[in-house]
Amino acid sequence: MSRPLHVVILAAGAGTRMHSQKLKVLHEVAGRAMIDHVLDLAQALEPAQITVVFGHQAEQLIQHGQDWPVNWAEQKEQLGTGHAVQQAATFFQDDEDVLVLYGDAPLVQVADLLPWRDQQFVLTAVLADATGYGRIIREGEHIAAIVEHKDANESVLAIQEVNSGIIQAPAKALKHWLGQLSNDNQQHEYYLTDVIGLAAAEGQPFQAAVVVDAEVVKGANDMAQLAELEDLLQQRIRQQLMHQGVRLLRPESVDVRGTVYCGADVMIDKGVLLEGDCEFGEDVHIGAHCVIKDSRLAAGTVVAPHSMLDGVVTTGPCHIGPYARLRPGTELSAGCKVGNFVETKKTHMGRNSKASHLTYLGDAEIGAAVNIGAGTITCNYDGVNKFTTTIKDGAFIGSDTQLVAPVTVGKNATIGAGSTITKDTPDDQLTLSRSRQKSVEGWTKPEQK
Ligand code: UD1
Ligand code: CA
Repeated sequence: MSRPLHVVILAAGAGTRMHSQKLKVLHEVAGRAMIDHVLDLAQALEPAQITVVFGHQAEQLIQHGQDWPVNWAEQKEQLGTGHAVQQAATFFQDDEDVLVLYGDAPLVQVADLLPWRDQQFVLTAVLADATGYGRIIREGEHIAAIVEHKDANESVLAIQEVNSGIIQAPAKALKHWLGQLSNDNQQHEYYLTDVIGLAAAEGQPFQAAVVVDAEVVKGANDMAQLAELEDLLQQRIRQQLMHQGVRLLRPESVDVRGTVYCGADVMIDKGVLLEGDCEFGEDVHIGAHCVIKDSRLAAGTVVAPHSMLDGVVTTGPCHIGPYARLRPGTELSAGCKVGNFVETKKTHMGRNSKASHLTYLGDAEIGAAVNIGAGTITCNYDGVNKFTTTIKDGAFIGSDTQLVAPVTVGKNATIGAGSTITKDTPDDQLTLSRSRQKSVEGWTKPEQK
């Protein structure tokens, strides 16, 4: 039986090198705030408690995390990582193991930590360029001390094994060592890393837990490092998708900012961006350069290139695009076709209905087997309020029709091309509203004066 776990997430730093109004840990990688990734990790470890240490731009963080099941510990002045953990100590229970995570290091995964669950350890990594990191002074499997880059001499600087910042120790012992920290160093900070030397001196040294993939310890101190994290996380997500059987034709060009669940034989072409929560059934094909957000596409749905989908549901195989813009509340039944330069919003289309070209459908309830001609517009907005257009099963809407809502087109009705429909139209009949075509006899072209 493991001891109860208490995860402390450090997020009080100012993040000045980001040069941003936004708190550092709220900057996003793969579509989510860095600290959200860290909180996910913390929760996946099934801890007894999580304590978030906040300080700088406190309002932003607390607003962002208002629903989180965590303790909030304020660090009024940022006096160092050791001082930060001390602020969380009031929540420690003596029988707990305390695991410290950093809010700006979002790439660490459960698998990197699980093997060390019952140890007193520091997560370390061997980096080609260790600049800026604390260096690990080894004593076999254990760590004699950690020396910060700024406090290191030449021989220490040559060490490539670095402190990730993640450490774990029994709460009671950690509290004891934290109480002995001093700020007698280059940065005049209370370093959490000094705990390691104190523990070793008392004959209770920390284990060095080396991560397999050194990149996971990387954090973001500036926008360039944030971009690097984005790159690393995107690579990871693409690998996961491909291992699940998703065909990415040009993997390095596909980005996922959120989560995507795919059935078998999903194919995603070059330059696709997926955002929010997406779900693609079997054999869904996403064409090149599509942007798809928060959408659930049923098996067999094809999205042709350059389409934008946001909040779309297809309940059977459909054909969308190229160049379609489908906005929130669009729901398409099996066999629907929404073609090029068609925009939809809050629109339901029944089975086998089609809007193949150049159309705006907003606030529309469209039945089955309806054919919407090119250039059809639902006039759903009078400048103040929105109204619904209802088109019953089997109706045929001629090209260049304006349907002025609220209005209902009857079952199997036909609307003549170029009509402006302001009143409900009967079932089965042809309705049109345009002046009869005439040619004017004796008309001559004007002459230049
Ligand atoms: C720290 C480690 C270093 C390690 C590196 C890994 C110390 C003394 N140094 O250095 O050994 O290699 O991380 O990235 O621990 N924070 C607070 N309050 C503070 C200071 C920091 O909450 O008073 C938080 C920051 O928000 C951040 C984390 O602690 O999430 C790390 O702080 P940072 O100043 O970036 O530490 P480094 O100098 O990078
Ligand atoms: Ca840092």
